[in-house]
Amino acid sequence: MKFKVLTLFPEMIMDGLKTSITGRALENNLIELEAVNIREYSLDKHGKVDDYTYGGGAGMLMQAQPVYDAWQAQVSGRKTRTIYVTPQGRLFSQAYAAELAQEEELIFLCGHYEGIDQRVLDEVVTDYVSIGDYVLTGGELPAMVMIDAISRLIPGVLHNEESAETESFHRNLLEYPQYSRPEVWHGQKVPDVLLSGDHRKIAAWRMEQSEKLTRERRPDLYAKYERQEAVIQVLLGEKRLHIHMIENLRRGRGEVICWKDRAVCVYDPDCRLGMFTVASGRDAASQLIEAIPQNILDDMRFAVTTDIAINRELADRLSGDTIRITSEGRMACYTQRTFLPVKYKDIRLLQEADQEYPASHWEWQDADQPAERIRAKAFYGAYAEDRLIGFCGWLSDGRIGYLYVEEEYRRQGIGTSLEAFCINRQLEMGFVPYGFIPKENEVALKMQINMGLYLSEGCIWWLERS
Ligand code: ADE
Repeated sequence: MKFKVLTLFPEMIMDGLKTSITGRALENNLIELEAVNIREYSLDKHGKVDDYTYGGGAGMLMQAQPVYDAWQAQVSGRKTRTIYVTPQGRLFSQAYAAELAQEEELIFLCGHYEGIDQRVLDEVVTDYVSIGDYVLTGGELPAMVMIDAISRLIPGVLHNEESAETESFHRNLLEYPQYSRPEVWHGQKVPDVLLSGDHRKIAAWRMEQSEKLTRERRPDLYAKYERQEAVIQVLLGEKRLHIHMIENLRRGRGEVICWKDRAVCVYDPDCRLGMFTVASGRDAASQLIEAIPQNILDDMRFAVTTDIAINRELADRLSGDTIRITSEGRMACYTQRTFLPVKYKDIRLLQEADQEYPASHWEWQDADQPAERIRAKAFYGAYAEDRLIGFCGWLSDGRIGYLYVEEEYRRQGIGTSLEAFCINRQLEMGFVPYGFIPKENEVALKMQINMGLYLSEGCIWWLERS
């Protein structure tokens, strides 16, 4: 990701982001940052960039010319997403950060004084964004806040132990309180349960604390949380069939878009994936698809459904676009908490240098997907005498899959070991591991049952829009 910041105070941007985690990401070339001094583009011999406002009013306004020329020098032909940070913008959020993290390049425009001449904003800005309902003295701090929040979502920027895939804001709950040594400080003792060593009790206590804090401090978030939990209860009625929806919500990825009785739509904006289910019948499917807001439909690229009626309704509502069924099959989920045995020993995290191997041994949806998955530390390789002979991992939507083992190494349990290895990693992250198996792949279906996974009785369809 390349960030370019147009500002009158470039050193403020560079100084603010060159330390800590963003500093490390810059050093490792996971992000690039350039602060462009707007003043250098002024045509005025004294470098003036501001003037009085027409119609009167206190303060000075940044003029159109230097801002436009500074912007023009950064864009390469096509219109790069350009964010003007302003209290009059759309409110920044975790979901917005995730959306922006998908871009290859972002330009931030920082205003000062009373703002910037509207005519240049009309020409260059794609997003007006505010970081909160208060007014700061300039746009540099908001731009830095956004760059920080976006950077930590870029695969590889956080290390495993700081992982953004299992984080707070997760499930619309605030994080529970935490304690470190000493055990007693200012007469206050660390809660007994945290010293008990009983992980179940600790998890239950943390959950209780998260709920209590959220209820007290963020009743708006708590209401969302309660609705989501109610939807999860409905989905649990057919857990195997809905495991992808349940896990997507539990892992804090998607959001419930519509819900009526047993008809649910969850949308994951990162993967541009809509997930749909209904109890039965064309009426329920039609009502569900009708209720989806247009902006979600416009954004959606993939869909997973549990009923043919939904497929038909989706195709109707998206008339004009081609909706193609790419696969039909079953969900497989591993509902136990115990680790699976991994008999094949030489399994290791794939490295960026290995990306050609998975890229050439599977058909991926996007060309940069193997590299992105490797950076996310989500793909593992099996090695024989130091040579890569197979791999398996999980996609950004969370399902385990893309298992491959070279022909001459098959029927030796290496595929099972690779999948078991991924299942165990996901168990460590507190997930319920699952995957999707196309109905014609009988070997894979059998393998799931042998490994102790449960298959959904009902069918699942994957759709792609073009
Ligand atoms: N510039 C000044 N205040 C701001 C805010 N709250 N958000 C974004 N940009 C700003």
